[in-house]
Amino acid sequence: MSEEFPVPWAPCVRVLLDRAALATRVGELGAQLTLDYAGRPLTVLCVLKGASLFAADLVRAIEVPLHLEFLGVASYGSGTRSSGEVRITSDTGTPLHDRDVLVVEDIVDTGLTLRFLLQALGARGCRTVRTCALLDKPSRRVEPVVVDYTGFTVEDRFLVGYGLDHDERWRNLPFIGVLEP
Ligand code: IMP
Ligand code: MG
Repeated sequence: MSEEFPVPWAPCVRVLLDRAALATRVGELGAQLTLDYAGRPLTVLCVLKGASLFAADLVRAIEVPLHLEFLGVASYGSGTRSSGEVRITSDTGTPLHDRDVLVVEDIVDTGLTLRFLLQALGARGCRTVRTCALLDKPSRRVEPVVVDYTGFTVEDRFLVGYGLDHDERWRNLPFIGVLEP
């Protein structure tokens, strides 16, 4: 993973995955999803807010017709640990009944958020549900959720940028970085 000079306005963030690494991996995921969803009507469900930047790039790398939907979720609590208590902050605009849904997440950490989402989607009668996460932190897993498509497996460090936040900051960094103390 190559280093990229940190941006001057974020000196406390060390680059872990630079723009080029992200673009390459997103392209690979898009190519795989293009093969896997050929001839099937795909609905990409972007989980807000964290997955917004990843999903925006990913859908442009998937070369099949698709629907793009957004679901806002938040877990109570702030800082670097989620409480595990998840709520929907904004729902999709259209029903997901009978759809082939790909849930797009920024990061799967404990798995509590994804477990909540999968249960909620199960109740909505989707035809199929698969999961795609840019980042996976398996060492922190509490719920044994299946991530069908993973961008990068990462160690237990708090990451920001490319959609990921710390108390709503740093989402607009063009790379994934480690927040230094
Ligand atoms: P989980 O429910 O513990 O799997 O966490 C899922 C959510 O927690 C993600 O969608 C993120 O919003 C947030 N999260 C977990 N780890 C990180 C991190 O390292 N940086 C930023 N957000 C994180
Ligand atoms: Mg978050």
